[in-house]
Amino acid sequence: MSQFTKRENFIPYNLPDITDAEIEEMTATLRSLWIAKGPRTIKFEQEFAAYLGAKHAVSVNSCTAALHVSLLTQNIGPGDEVITTPMTFASTASTILHCGATPVFADIDYRTGCIDPDEIEKKVTPRTKAIVPVHYSGQVCDLDRIYEIADRHGLYVSEDAAHALWSRYKGRLIGNKLKGAASYSFYATKNLTTGDGGMLVTDDDAIAERARILVGQGMSHNAWNRYAKGGSWRYDIVEPGYKYNMFDLQAALGLVQLSRMEEMQKRRLAIAARYQEEFAKIDGVEPPFVPDYATHCWHLYVLRVVPEVLTIDRDRFIVELNERNVGTSVHFIPVHTMTAFRKLGWKEGDFPNTERHFERIISLPLYPSMTDEQVEYVIEAVRDIAEKYHR
Ligand SMILES: Cc1ncc(COP(=O)(O)O)c(C=O)c1O
Repeated sequence: MSQFTKRENFIPYNLPDITDAEIEEMTATLRSLWIAKGPRTIKFEQEFAAYLGAKHAVSVNSCTAALHVSLLTQNIGPGDEVITTPMTFASTASTILHCGATPVFADIDYRTGCIDPDEIEKKVTPRTKAIVPVHYSGQVCDLDRIYEIADRHGLYVSEDAAHALWSRYKGRLIGNKLKGAASYSFYATKNLTTGDGGMLVTDDDAIAERARILVGQGMSHNAWNRYAKGGSWRYDIVEPGYKYNMFDLQAALGLVQLSRMEEMQKRRLAIAARYQEEFAKIDGVEPPFVPDYATHCWHLYVLRVVPEVLTIDRDRFIVELNERNVGTSVHFIPVHTMTAFRKLGWKEGDFPNTERHFERIISLPLYPSMTDEQVEYVIEAVRDIAEKYHR
């Protein structure tokens, strides 16, 4: 039996990794008095594209905006269907509705939590226009199979890479050599944060050009520069667009975070390795499976409880962790069970793998500023609960 001693302080589920460098760059941006979209935003786009080895990076104020605009660049609208996973955050599916199109869910591969290509294949109809695969938790989808289906049916692929910065498929960074586009999130919990923010990445000139117009109110090119010396006050609105742009205060954070990416990832990987090693030894929990083709960026560490072995369910396991001062989260409540999507006809029971996965999952604390002591404590707390409630 483990010798477990409860700690006094709570371990938060997540904290952003902010150093003096981020604070100094934010301060410098404020002092420069260029706080809206400007030189730092442009620099961040360039450095982000270079980091991924992608041709274009269009900065936005959220991944939700990127996902929306990605579909709009293909004129996806009423009458069209877009296939995605129910094991995601709502905005992956809501943005399909925002286009006037219909989200069609396909179940996950239970091993990875990512959309199952065989299930995608079953959902393709003459109305299908696109697939939105989600690289769930930083795990990567089986992209060769997804692109093979897309090519065969002439579908656009809009990768939801909200979790997947640094992740690799068969050794290549997600976002590198894209056939369609990928959307990234820089929300406070993400591996790289700008507080809130996002990026649409593509190698396709036409997608990038249309996206730039759509995210900046439909304004003609480089209108952000109209207040600078030499910038032109004249602009045109070429189509009704959205106020989706990133601004320099966000980009200031992003530039420093990007420069620290490898250092932050090194710590995430070390923590994930400890979790993987120890949770494999604990009866009653199941560590994430990482397929050979994937390099996981460990945005989330999604542990599954095994109710067949325990006398408690996932919900109680979370309460027990909380009582031991460990913060957690759940990613995700399946989207098809949410009221807004039930109204479209989806219901519980439609996606057995997604629902089985959901009932078992707990996202554990994993972020660069966690100390070794905290990491070991989380492991011991899980071990203590699994032993205490073993059947
Ligand atoms: C899988 C997934 N897609 C999209 C989003 C939306 O990201 P954002 O909050 O940047 O709009 C999230 C948010 O966390 C997410 O988890």
